[in-house]
Amino acid sequence: MDDSNTPSPKRGLAQSGAGNNWMFLLEAARDIRTTGALAPSGRALAHALTEPLRSQAGRRLNVLEVGAGTGSVTRSLIHQLPAGSRLDIVEANSRFTDRLRDLVRTHPRLAGEPGQARVHHAYVEELDIGRRYDAIISGLPFANFDPHQVEAIMGRYLELLRPGGLLTYFAYCGARQTRPLLALASRTQARRQQASEEVLADYQRHYATGRSAVWANLPPAHVWQLQRPVERVPGAIRTSAGVTAAH
Ligand SMILES: C[S@@+](CC[C@H](N)C(=O)[O-])C[C@H]1O[C@@H](n2cnc3c(N)ncnc32)[C@H](O)[C@@H]1O
Repeated sequence: MDDSNTPSPKRGLAQSGAGNNWMFLLEAARDIRTTGALAPSGRALAHALTEPLRSQAGRRLNVLEVGAGTGSVTRSLIHQLPAGSRLDIVEANSRFTDRLRDLVRTHPRLAGEPGQARVHHAYVEELDIGRRYDAIISGLPFANFDPHQVEAIMGRYLELLRPGGLLTYFAYCGARQTRPLLALASRTQARRQQASEEVLADYQRHYATGRSAVWANLPPAHVWQLQRPVERVPGAIRTSAGVTAAH
């Protein structure tokens, strides 16, 4: 069972669903560009984003979550984290990191496992943990970023993934359809958004292994899965069956 929204005596108002929704809305009012939404992701979106943990189940994983907000996806990740795995959580907003630290400290699944999940107050572009990841789960609002920032972050994700590692991120549905309206308000914003989407489309063409639609979210979203290619061993090629053979 997914316990992400189950009330627990250890969780006060601060960690409750209603408390998280209010906090998220306040942070969106303070800075909508970085926060990127009016409410945290729902359970269906959290489930789709955490697919790389299920597809790599049964072994220890290094997992990175980026842009965790109030922790709606983090709770799903903690629930599915295989024993002996490590979860790094990166969040740029210090009010959210305080709440995430509280979540990690009090979550029953992490009791007796100090250090299994760590919260980093940082912009992911500047993150330097010195570790490679089997899975990166990104909650960043790419549609709000300029194309150079999207390029820098996607490049960094590929560096941080181990060969064969998986990245998931989401994009709210309908951005393309509502762009003419955005252009009425600001042509510059509409052009910036389109350029950012083109950067993402380029990464999708090269690395995407899947895309799914999550209608049971407000707003509905597409979840993309990308994979860092398995690097060639010198003197060997990868066949279509994934078998390594000599040149
Ligand atoms: C759309 S919210 C997603 C929150 C949460 N993952 C969810 O799905 O409910 C985006 C989050 O990314 C954080 N963020 C934005 N830019 C960031 C960056 N460059 N590095 C790390 N976190 C960032 C924001 O503070 C915000 O909490």
